[in-house]
Amino acid sequence: MEASTSPELTTFAEDVLRGLSSTPKQLSSKYFYDDEGSRLFQEIMKLPEYYLTRAEFKLFSEQKDAICSAFTEDAEGLDVIELGAGDGTKTAILIEHLLAEGVDFTYSPIDISQEANEILSARFREKFPALKIAPHTGDYFKVLGSLKNGSSKRRKVLMFLGSNIGNFLQQKALDFFRQLRAVMNREDRLFIGFDMQKDPRVIVAAYDDAQGVTAAFNLNLLERINRELGGDFDLSKFSHYAQYRPLECAARSFLISREKQTVHIAGLNRSFDFEQWEAIFMEISQKYTRSMIEELAADSGFEIETEFFDEENFYTNSLWQPSQNHLR
Ligand code: AVJ
Repeated sequence: MEASTSPELTTFAEDVLRGLSSTPKQLSSKYFYDDEGSRLFQEIMKLPEYYLTRAEFKLFSEQKDAICSAFTEDAEGLDVIELGAGDGTKTAILIEHLLAEGVDFTYSPIDISQEANEILSARFREKFPALKIAPHTGDYFKVLGSLKNGSSKRRKVLMFLGSNIGNFLQQKALDFFRQLRAVMNREDRLFIGFDMQKDPRVIVAAYDDAQGVTAAFNLNLLERINRELGGDFDLSKFSHYAQYRPLECAARSFLISREKQTVHIAGLNRSFDFEQWEAIFMEISQKYTRSMIEELAADSGFEIETEFFDEENFYTNSLWQPSQNHLR
């Protein structure tokens, strides 16, 4: 079966096996983004309820001057490195501004998907012929390790936008920032997008839209398991459920088994029993308070240099500098 020929699929298969065997059942949101999943996420970003993308886009449009000044201050040249660049619509605002200001910089999008990288690079080469762009495909840390520049005076600006950090459980987010800290010099910067705590109703609506696009986005992972691992999930027997827990500032989504059923996955050579109303935990989308962000920065060896907020305080882009004494 195909599952054993591709190393990527093997990890996927292993993760699905582990997730559906555990209590509670869970699947990882990192597997949402196959071709159909990526297309559905593009749709999500256009939804009236999904405020995150618009908030970051507006923040960049209105504060690009201050953001770019903060990037370039006391730097000899910039290497802008974006982790998981996606379609680059928001990043383009900053790139355009850096070019207009005559800043000496390079742009390196890093993505695990070769195709995503190629599409983005082709688009940026056409849009910005003068841009020095060097895409890298692969695991963030492998690529970052190879980019670690000991002697160069140029400043690396690592960008992790779109509240992508929200998909990490708290401890994983901390580990992630610590690993980034380990490949950064004191003059480098980390620029992160965080979605802020706000009216719980606004948050729930963003993850439970009226058109059902987010539901389709979640259900697509079952479809992917059917296609790639030979599963027999009947999608009509599962429904999407999103909740927000204000004390934890966490939005979570689930797929709920509408009836008692057994699902067989040929590629795993296994069946999985579902009770009626049993949930599969699909995704966490963490929201943040300022003090949570301060704590994350301090605990991973950074100081917050500048925070940019939109008018409504819906969203923040936070610029971090490695602190002098980060050993703990
Ligand atoms: C891409 C992780 C920022 O959690 O808001 C959108 C993914 N999931 N709707 C988010 C997502 C459901 C999104 N991030």
